[in-house]
Amino acid sequence: MTDKTRDGPKTEAAKPAANRMWGGRFAGGHAEIMERINASIDVDRRLFAEDIEGSIAHAAMLVRQGIIRQEDGDTIRRGLEQIRDEIERGDFAFSRSLEDIHMNVEARLAALIGAPAGRLHTARSRNDQIATDFKLWVRGAIDALGEGLRELVAGLLDLAEPHAGTVMPGYTHLQPAQPVTFGHHLMAYVEMFERDRGRLADARKRLNESPLGAAALAGTSFPIDREATATALGFDRPAANSMDAVADRDFALEYLAAGAILAVHLSRLAEEIVLWTSDGFRFVRLSDAYSTGSSIMPQKRNPDAAELVRGKAGRALGALQALLVVMKGLPLTYGKDMQEDKELTFEATDSLMLSVAAMAGMVRDMTPDPEAMRRATASGHSTATDLADWLVRTLSLPFREAHEITGRIVKLADERGSSLADLPLAAMQAIEPRVTDAVFAVLSVERSVASRTSFGGTAPDNVRRAIKAARERYR
Ligand code: ARG
Repeated sequence: MTDKTRDGPKTEAAKPAANRMWGGRFAGGHAEIMERINASIDVDRRLFAEDIEGSIAHAAMLVRQGIIRQEDGDTIRRGLEQIRDEIERGDFAFSRSLEDIHMNVEARLAALIGAPAGRLHTARSRNDQIATDFKLWVRGAIDALGEGLRELVAGLLDLAEPHAGTVMPGYTHLQPAQPVTFGHHLMAYVEMFERDRGRLADARKRLNESPLGAAALAGTSFPIDREATATALGFDRPAANSMDAVADRDFALEYLAAGAILAVHLSRLAEEIVLWTSDGFRFVRLSDAYSTGSSIMPQKRNPDAAELVRGKAGRALGALQALLVVMKGLPLTYGKDMQEDKELTFEATDSLMLSVAAMAGMVRDMTPDPEAMRRATASGHSTATDLADWLVRTLSLPFREAHEITGRIVKLADERGSSLADLPLAAMQAIEPRVTDAVFAVLSVERSVASRTSFGGTAPDNVRRAIKAARERYR
């Protein structure tokens, strides 16, 4: 991913003049508003490195195929490398009247090397060029996001490990349901983020076919070697149909879809952090590094980073929706509508990268409070299912009947303001005379989690095994 140009020099003001790159049959210049709606350089300058890489591969192939002369190819390559340096140094004047990154680079190449620059665009169009540049960029974004996720998952594993046996309430409907461990809860997110990485990796596989050489839409009459440019750019093969190659944006849609699901996962974890750090829970504390104060209420510690991760999900979800709508109903092949793809994808990527990094930071920063989690677990009658299971096992009751009896015992505990474990045996026996004091063994929250040994269950040994297995997948 390249964003070196983002703080670069300002794009120069609009100048009405016939465009040098395609102006042959045009006499007049653009209306100012036409230039503003048409130009994409303010956005697609982020593709400069990919654009130059693609051009270098294309020129080298043209030389090898005898389509342009070796000296011209060498001059072109040196010129392109110099342009890359200029842009990286922030020493390049982007021009809005040159529309996009392709023509900005090519115009500069002409200024630098003169006539040979005009040979670079042989057997190529901006349509296959942009598809190639954009694919290379999205591929880089997929890799960078995958790396970010690896770090987030590593943080979750490090936090889960010491808390494999830390009891907390597991919720459904945000009501205490059954005791689980904090480690198990965190490992649920490891599963989610691992699927996200898998979805990104899947998208990358399908993305990795080169559009370069599809030319405008029909292919070219020049004897090009599409295999060679595909290999030079790290693609697995050339895209098989020239029309599809220039019209396809599935790769961006798939990437944004994977990103949207990732954003949903991030926002769910963010919401849990907001809850856990709130006064009603106090399960977790974030240090000053990830908390903000209020300008009026001195007692406040707000989990702003978590709230922003939750909020920024809107951008990733919106980008997917917006690009789906852009693409919907577009006839083959390229339409300028498709130029809208970059801004959406860049914005979603920036917000996803930031959110993943902020989440990784918060996960490393969190200090859990096992005592607070334990208190909440014990007060929520979260071992009621264990009591019902005990009645089934010990008294051979049908589960439905055991459920009924347990419900009455829970009601009694509520009336007395007591937890299940603190209810006197006699009180339980008043409801079900066959209950013995052996029942207390299953009413403890620790016993409850320890008993959940079924595959994927919350028993601390299971959780430790899951952490170990996840770490092995990372080696
Ligand atoms: N700036 C254009 C885009 O981002 C590049 C392709 C333009 N092709 C064309 N035929 N106008 O989509």
